[in-house]
Amino acid sequence: MNRNADKPVIYLDHAATSWPKPAAVLEAMHHSMLEEAANPGRGGHRMAVSAGRVLMRTRMELGRLFGVSNPNDIVFMPNTTAALNQAIKGLLRSGDHVIATMIEHNSVRRPLEYMRREHGVQVDYVQADEFGMINPSEIAALCRPNTRMIVCNHSSNLLGSILPVADIAEIAKSRGAVLLVDAAQSAGVMDIHVEHLGIDMLAFPGHKGLLGPQGTGGLYIHPSIDLIPLIHGGTGSQSEEADQPSIRPDRYEAGTPNTVGIAGLGAGVRHVLQEGPAVIGRREWELTQLLMGRLSSVSGLRLLGPKLGEPRTGIVSFTVESMDSAKVAFRLDREYGIAVRAGYHCTPLAHRVSNTTDGGAVRSSVGCDTTEADTEALANAIVEIVGSV
Ligand code: ALA
Repeated sequence: MNRNADKPVIYLDHAATSWPKPAAVLEAMHHSMLEEAANPGRGGHRMAVSAGRVLMRTRMELGRLFGVSNPNDIVFMPNTTAALNQAIKGLLRSGDHVIATMIEHNSVRRPLEYMRREHGVQVDYVQADEFGMINPSEIAALCRPNTRMIVCNHSSNLLGSILPVADIAEIAKSRGAVLLVDAAQSAGVMDIHVEHLGIDMLAFPGHKGLLGPQGTGGLYIHPSIDLIPLIHGGTGSQSEEADQPSIRPDRYEAGTPNTVGIAGLGAGVRHVLQEGPAVIGRREWELTQLLMGRLSSVSGLRLLGPKLGEPRTGIVSFTVESMDSAKVAFRLDREYGIAVRAGYHCTPLAHRVSNTTDGGAVRSSVGCDTTEADTEALANAIVEIVGSV
């Protein structure tokens, strides 16, 4: 038993949700709730206008972060899943073909399978190697005349591998397909410039690397793409019209937005912009290397994803011989106060790739405030747990 009394929780589940948040995020949310949490865009009174400014400011910060010249091409969504659903169901029609990968999250796979079943969309999943890498030429080989979309994550939420998005974008462009990127694990920890990378749609969470609260996220939509909105309703604009407005962001933002959450997201994005995503990502990578170095000498432990020294995001997943992943995570939590995520991580296809369908894996993931002492504590706890099996 090795609980650290100074730090009751060693939080290594940042791939699910980052925690704790910078103080500025809490302050922005507190201020917003106290001073400006009226309904933005629905009234001319000062509080409503002030709430509208919060949304616009956060949208502009996100535009800076993602290299989007018109911030109105970024629409707020409650999470990455909603953004991916909007992108997939808003674009695809019967007879369209889509290429995805074997390491997609269920937030891509399930909408695609729904579109296959209910709307006659054709879907192919390109294979990944055991390290979670995709060969872009295999995507090119699967393209058909009716390929409408290529969708992939930027970084696998199980393996931490980083996909060659710029190369995939070139393939999409040359075939007239739209590239949708799931940035759930890369937003805030990698430089993402959608226009330079050739990304047509980018779905991102607010509550992971961008350090905002849960219930925030968004979708960048290239100005040439018109998606059918999934949600129709009040926008505070063109109220006399029966149809959803065509102007952005209103077209995709019906209903009262999460102003307080978006205020917090804005503060999180400012924090990320101040440090720089690549600087944060580099620090997280160094922590993964230390952790992997320690774990690689534990007998019976198998590390998943890219090899030591290779690029990856802050995810280190592993299996322990003859021990269920859920049991390892349970012991880490109860005996050592260490929070990780075990099981299948909503990505069963990636578990096929890593040959971990039987029992899943333990996923640890570092974040902005993780220290070497935290990763050391995890490694020490694993050594004890494996030694006690
Ligand atoms: N998608 C998040 C994860 O991978 C929740 O844990």
